[in-house]
Amino acid sequence: MDNSGHLNLVSFAFFLCILACGGRVLSQAPAGADSQQLQPLIAEFDAVSPSQKQAWVHIWSTYARTMLCALQDARGNGQLHIYMNGDSSFRQQKNFLCNILQPGFMRGKWALDVNALHDEHESSCYNSELNIRVTFIDNSCCDTGRLAYLLHRDTDPTGKENPPAWKPRTVGQSSPAQPVVLTAATPAATSEAATVGSGLLREAAIMAGEDWVIARGQATSNAGTQALPVKSVAADVDADTETQLVLYLNCGLHLMHLGRARPFECLQQQYGYVETIQEFSRAAARLYPGSPQIFMTSNHVCESNFRGPYADALKEAAADPEGFLRQCVEIVNMTAGPLLGNIPALSYACREGLFVGHGTASLRRRMLLALREEKELRARGDHVGVVDAYALTEGQCWASQSSDGRHYPYVVPMVVMELIATMHRQLLRAH
Ligand SMILES: *[C@@H]1O[C@H](CO)[C@@H](O)[C@H](O)[C@H]1NC(C)=O
Repeated sequence: MDNSGHLNLVSFAFFLCILACGGRVLSQAPAGADSQQLQPLIAEFDAVSPSQKQAWVHIWSTYARTMLCALQDARGNGQLHIYMNGDSSFRQQKNFLCNILQPGFMRGKWALDVNALHDEHESSCYNSELNIRVTFIDNSCCDTGRLAYLLHRDTDPTGKENPPAWKPRTVGQSSPAQPVVLTAATPAATSEAATVGSGLLREAAIMAGEDWVIARGQATSNAGTQALPVKSVAADVDADTETQLVLYLNCGLHLMHLGRARPFECLQQQYGYVETIQEFSRAAARLYPGSPQIFMTSNHVCESNFRGPYADALKEAAADPEGFLRQCVEIVNMTAGPLLGNIPALSYACREGLFVGHGTASLRRRMLLALREEKELRARGDHVGVVDAYALTEGQCWASQSSDGRHYPYVVPMVVMELIATMHRQLLRAH
């Protein structure tokens, strides 16, 4: 893609110019460089003017629109639904895309603002010229119950019925070809599944029960979603315009802790991250058979940007690493469910799951391993794509705000461009 490389350079040069205007030059700091050196630059980025921020969005939006048009041209302009399940880093990408696709979507907010549309846990937009829909489902811990949202809905998140480019006709209509293997891990999981209906829905419930028994509180909170009756969707879809669904999936940042300053949200998913990713991918394949999947590696955490309680926790951990680990094990041992008393497992989760750069490197390594293993198990045509947001954010502390360190507003468009390029490869290989 010579063309895109050229555009990348032009955009990047423009942004460097914005920097230079502030009288500073972006030095080539190695990963993990001391925060003193980066501090003035972070302050500079926090002070980027609104018009400069808009310029950044404009440059990348122009590029993204061009590449979305190219994708749709190559596909014959068929309906495309990008269905995102992930955390706030996905919300940001949805905002960037929807700001392009549906004028007014951001209601005046900067499209890359970390907190924009924070309260919308389900959100969707559509562009009738491009025939593209984007839907974001807030799903921080790879919960299959949440993943099934689209399957159970014939309205968009605002309640609009029969939204265009919503789901393929085949989804939710008949059982998938693969045999259903019932391997519920515990009697509790089996009985929970047995109370739910039949077919795909039952399977989804069993999967959720089977894989996330340990996060039982969470699985239970989604029981309402699972218990919804499955409606026939055939009538909702125009036969002429079969919808192509693309699944964009991630969890990671919420699987980490920083002692008392940031308790674990989903410990079991951290402990069994390889299995978490594989089961999420398999659940996606069973719920939405035939839909390409793209996983995103989680953003790098730049702990040198932390301030306040997070920074204090880091100091504590640096002063006494073993004590910090012991404290974590004690805390999670009180709430660990099936891992209760399993000190080696809890120690592993506490060590690998630290909310710092090292922890995100571990997530990336394990996600790539999980997907490599899945690839070996699956047919050649069923390749799972990867958007490597870790690689795009590692060593880029400057692009994340002070006291944040895990969102990178200025890098979000680059991650989205990777998503578009990956979709292009996957959809055109499949056709
Ligand atoms: C973990 O919890 C179990 C059960 O409550 C308890 O017996 C054990 O002493 C705890 N271990 C630690 C290290 O806190």
